[in-house]
Amino acid sequence: MDLLNIYAEELTKSLNGILSLENILELIEKPRYSTQGDIAFPCFTLAKTLKKTPNQIAVEIATRINHPMFEKVVADGPYVNGFFHKKLVSNEVITSILDQGKHYGSSDIGNGKNITIDFSSPNIAKPFSMGHLRSTVIGNSLAHIFEKCGYNAIRINHLGDWGTQFGKLIVAYKLWGNEEQVKQNPIKELLSLYVKFHEEAQQQKHLEEEARIWFKKLEDGDAEPTKLWEWFRSESLQEFSKIYKLLGITFDSYHGEAFYNDKMEKTLRLLNDQKLLSTSDGAEVVHLDEYELPPCLLKKSDGATLYATRDLTAALYRQETYHFKKGIYVVGHEQSLHFKQVFLVLKKMGYNWANDLVHVPFGFILKDGKKMSTRKGKVVLLEDVISEAVSLAKENIEVKNPGLQNKDEVAKQVAIGALIFHDLKNERLNNIEFSLKDMLKFEGETGPYVQYTHARACSILRKAGGAKDSQAEGLDEEESWELVKMLMDFPAVIKKSMTLYEPSQIAKYLIDLSQEFNKYYGIVKILADDEQKAQRIALVKSVTTVLCEGLRLLGITAPEEM
Ligand code: ARG
Repeated sequence: MDLLNIYAEELTKSLNGILSLENILELIEKPRYSTQGDIAFPCFTLAKTLKKTPNQIAVEIATRINHPMFEKVVADGPYVNGFFHKKLVSNEVITSILDQGKHYGSSDIGNGKNITIDFSSPNIAKPFSMGHLRSTVIGNSLAHIFEKCGYNAIRINHLGDWGTQFGKLIVAYKLWGNEEQVKQNPIKELLSLYVKFHEEAQQQKHLEEEARIWFKKLEDGDAEPTKLWEWFRSESLQEFSKIYKLLGITFDSYHGEAFYNDKMEKTLRLLNDQKLLSTSDGAEVVHLDEYELPPCLLKKSDGATLYATRDLTAALYRQETYHFKKGIYVVGHEQSLHFKQVFLVLKKMGYNWANDLVHVPFGFILKDGKKMSTRKGKVVLLEDVISEAVSLAKENIEVKNPGLQNKDEVAKQVAIGALIFHDLKNERLNNIEFSLKDMLKFEGETGPYVQYTHARACSILRKAGGAKDSQAEGLDEEESWELVKMLMDFPAVIKKSMTLYEPSQIAKYLIDLSQEFNKYYGIVKILADDEQKAQRIALVKSVTTVLCEGLRLLGITAPEEM
C-alpha cells in the first residue's frame, strides 16, 4: 500500500488534474510535527493559476478529499494535512509484511532487465586497498538493491591484471624472486618485489628498459612471461577470494583488463573509421574540446594501449554481451575524469546507450584524518583488519552474552556487519574515518546496534513461543504508530536508495527503525497478557523481517542471537 500515492491521487482528483501526479508527488512533504498529521501538501504553487491565496486553496482541497485510509484531511494555513487512519493503515502494513515476508519492499521496476555492476576490481600483485574495500561493499549492496527492484544484476570484477607494471614485476621476479616465498605470501612478496624494482631502478637505469621489453613479450604472448603473469594472477586471485568469502560476496565475471587485449584493435578501428582519432605527438587521442575536457588518450606513441582503451572496449563488450539497461561503475571519485572521458567518447561514437553508463564515485577511508594507504611497505592487509575486528567482536560478546552457543560464527557476522555498516551509513561521497573500536560498539549508529536490535526482537518472539500467536489485524495502540509508519516507508526507502545509488539511505533507515523499536520496547510491555498481545507480536515479527531484509540489502547477516 502506498499512501503517498493514494494521497497524491486524491489531490489530483480534487484539483481536476491542474497538477500532474508526478508534480504533486514531488511537492508532498512530511509535516514537521506529528501533531500536524502524517502527510502534507503545500498550496503555494497553485496560487497563481487559481488566483486565490494558498490558504483558501488549502481549505477547498481539504473539504474535497474523503478516503477511508485517512482519518481526516484538514487545512493548516497554506498546507493540506492528511492524518492516516491508524488502525486501517496498521492493519494493511503489518498484514502485507507478514504475508510477503522477505519479499516485502520488492518491486518489478527493473522488469528483469540486465544491469552490469563493475565493482571491487583490485589490481593483481598489489594489496587489496581500502578503496577496493569501499567499492566492494558499495557495489555489492547496489547489486542487492537493484535486484530487489526487479533488475538482473551482473556483478563484474574488472581486475587490474594488465599494464606495464607486469613488465617490472617479471624483471624483479627473475632477478630477486623466490617461488616458495611467493606461494607462501603472494601479495606481500609480489609487492615487495615491485617496491624493490623501483628502488633499484633509480640507480640501474637499464631496468626500466628491460621491463618495457618484457611487457612487450607478454603482449606478444611469449610463453615465459605469460606463464609468470598467469601465475601472479592466480595467486593474487586466491588471496582476494579469501576476502570475498569472508564478506560473502560473489561475482558473475572476472574479465579484467587483460581480457580486452585482443579486442582493442577493433575499438581503435571503429574510432578511426569514424574519423574520431587524432594524432598528437605520435599518440592517438579522441579530442573532447567541445566538452572542455582534456583529450582521451587511447594509444601511446610506442603503440601501448591504456586503461581508457580497455574501459572503452569493455563497455562495448558488455553492451554487446548483456544489452544492459544500465552500466554501473563503482570506483573512487579520483577517477571521475577518466569515466567522463570514456562515456563521452562512446557518445561521440553515436551509441545512445552511453547515456546509461553511470560512474558511482565514493570518498576515501581515513585514519586519523589521513588517507589510509595500503602501499609503500607499511601495508595494512585487509585480512588482518578483518581478523582484528573478529577478535574485538568476540571480546564484546564474551562480556555481553558469555553463554552464547555459536560465538565464533556470530563474532564473524558482527565483525563483518560492523565493517560494512560503517562504510554504508555515510553518504558514499563523504570520506570516512576508520576506527574498529567505534564501528564495533553495540550502541550508537553501528551495524552491531542494528543486529543487536534484531536479535532482541527475535528473543521476544522466542519468549512468545514464536510468531504463531500473532494477529496482523486490530493493532490499536498509540505507542506503536511511529513504528508502523516507519515499516510502511521501507519500500520507498529502497527505491530511493536505488535511484540515488545510495545504500546509506537504507543504513540510516535501519538506525532510525532500530531506535524507534528500542523506544517502543522501553515503554510498552510487549508480552503483557491483554487483548493487544497478539497484535504486538505481529508488530515485532514485522520489525524483525524488515531489519533482517534491510541488513541483507547492505550485505550484512542478522544473527537471531548475539
Ligand atoms: N583496477 C582499478 C583500480 O584499482 C579499478 C578498476 C575500476 N573499473 C573499471 N572499469 N575501470 O584503480
